[in-house]
Amino acid sequence: MSNTVVVGAQWGDEGKGKVIDMLAESADVVIRFQGGNNAGHTVVVGEEQFILHLIPSGILHERTVCVIGNGVVVDPAVFLEEIDRLAARGVTVAGRLWISDQAHLIFPYHKHLDKLKEAQVGAGKIGTTGRGIGPCYMDKAARTGLRIADLLEPGSFRLRLKQNVEEKNLIFRKVYGADGVDFEKILADYTGFAKRLKPFVAATPAMLNRWVREGKSLLFEGAQGTWLDLDHGTYPFVTSSSATAGGACAGTGVGPAHINRVIGVVKAYTTRVGEGPFPTEFDSELMETIRTKGKEFGATTARPRRCGWFDAMLVRHAIQVNGITDIAVTKLDVLDELKTIRICTGYRLDGKLLESPPATVEAWGHLTPIYEEHPGWLRDTSTAARLEDLPEAARRYLKRLEALLEAKISTVSVGSKRDQAFHIERGNEGK
Ligand code: GDP
Ligand code: IMO
Ligand code: MG
Repeated sequence: MSNTVVVGAQWGDEGKGKVIDMLAESADVVIRFQGGNNAGHTVVVGEEQFILHLIPSGILHERTVCVIGNGVVVDPAVFLEEIDRLAARGVTVAGRLWISDQAHLIFPYHKHLDKLKEAQVGAGKIGTTGRGIGPCYMDKAARTGLRIADLLEPGSFRLRLKQNVEEKNLIFRKVYGADGVDFEKILADYTGFAKRLKPFVAATPAMLNRWVREGKSLLFEGAQGTWLDLDHGTYPFVTSSSATAGGACAGTGVGPAHINRVIGVVKAYTTRVGEGPFPTEFDSELMETIRTKGKEFGATTARPRRCGWFDAMLVRHAIQVNGITDIAVTKLDVLDELKTIRICTGYRLDGKLLESPPATVEAWGHLTPIYEEHPGWLRDTSTAARLEDLPEAARRYLKRLEALLEAKISTVSVGSKRDQAFHIERGNEGK
């Protein structure tokens, strides 16, 4: 059986939710391995739209088992709310949704700190989602964090929570001149969450490895994207987890030898939400056109997404650091009405051609993208059901992307609905 990792190869929102939903049809288990409810993964089923923040996008397939791995940071209020919202829409999760007892918990003080830190730096802010993701991973790395398993040990939980709240309240008051948080209220809320969470809690690394031995097919659902990865992204304008394929092993306890395929999801253009470098960002007129046609507003915060041309330099690098075996291109239809389409093939810095993207934001701010121009197809692609249905110029655009990326495109998406996508079969690829 094949085990597949799906990652974003740009700055997130590439359409991973849709690709996971497509692949989940032939997978036994879908697993989130990093990030938290900063993610917003959209799946459209018939006329209904579901936005999932924590629960894997495989949940809409009745027979698929879903797991929130140890690498994810969990806001229990959001997790329980998401379950309730799904139940209200007829999606039941009991017996097929598991959450790692090693996953770290997000607390109100993480969200408070996230917002205070952003407000303090003002113009230099990251533009986080404000969900407490960074501060929660800070505590995890500092070895002071609390995990799901701790929630189920009331005595020690109370003690460690108290220590954390006292330390955080000192920071809030002394560093930020802000109000603290209320220990008793948090304790009462989280004690309530513990009761409801308990049936979902499991020792997921052992569980997943048993399924691997049994030959089940695992699908690892990345959140965010390569260029938001803590190590490989446009640091410091990144998130606080490993959003690249390596994160799938650390964040689940399934070893790298069990991974057979890594799919990189890219939009046919580029978007970014939040601050930070973006070499191919559009000017205001094109920005408006693509944002409107592509409905480019954040699935988590509803912020308008910044839009730009496809950047082959970014994606080529993403292919390397993830070991991407094949590419899924989404939102090709959004380019249907453009007369000419540009692709960034590389960057120049101080007149010199760069071999790989730079490491500092200062350099990112000074580089000049190199473009080539292609004719648009000026035809509706949203009903294409196979490669041959696409206009010649659209096929040429995809071929050119493959040549620049030195990678094969295995999936093309031309709309948000389930039937608006097709696989490109080639020999035994996509096995
Ligand atoms: P994710 O975070 O990577 O899962 O992506 P998001 O769900 O945040 O954003 C992708 C958006 O594009 C969602 O609203 C999807 O419904 C939509 N979408 C996905 N694929 C396509 C496509 O091929 N064409 C169009 N027009 N929309 C798409
Ligand atoms: P999905 O999984 C796009 C961005 C934020 C901000 C930076 C850090 O839907 O692709 P954080 O709250 O993580 O500390 O914010 O990362 N960001 C995302 N951008 N898609 C996402 O997730 C994102 N998750 C975080 O906008 O720039
Ligand atoms: Mg998203």
